[in-house]
Amino acid sequence: MNDKIAALLNDQINKEFYSAYLYLDMSNYYDELDLDGYANYYMVQAQEERDHALLFMKYMQSIGLKVTLEAIGKPDKTFTNVLEPLEVAAEHERYVTELINNIYHEAHQDKDYRTLKFLDWFVDEQREEEESADSMVNRYKLFGSDPRGLYLLDQEYAARAYAPPSLTL
Ligand code: FEO
Repeated sequence: MNDKIAALLNDQINKEFYSAYLYLDMSNYYDELDLDGYANYYMVQAQEERDHALLFMKYMQSIGLKVTLEAIGKPDKTFTNVLEPLEVAAEHERYVTELINNIYHEAHQDKDYRTLKFLDWFVDEQREEEESADSMVNRYKLFGSDPRGLYLLDQEYAARAYAPPSLTL
């Protein structure tokens, strides 16, 4: 495998752990507001991001690449209203899609079909994650300014349960 792809895969481990950290920060923010459903939603999201990190790590291990774990950055957003984390999450997922697309592009250039096959799952996952994140923004804008609407949204997000990823390595 070419060194550039190996470095991008290794870097993605860190990016996914950072995503987990960012979503934990959001979960904390909502917990402080007693919006326990939103707090639960982002707690589950953080677990999914940790899974993504581990999938990249396991993929690297499976093809004999050296994994180097780097420091995880501090989430640097200070949230001032209920909508902000939702918008930050949507923006963040678009950024992650760009990262995945970039690795995909490099693997394609290099005819690295093994890595492309591995990344296919993440391409689908990013479509779902962007859709969910955008939906959370839009639904808040539609219903969130009404306290009863916000209460019902929060109840709905309280029901999100963690499920392990459908991809196994
Ligand atoms: Fe691992 Fe939310 O993308």
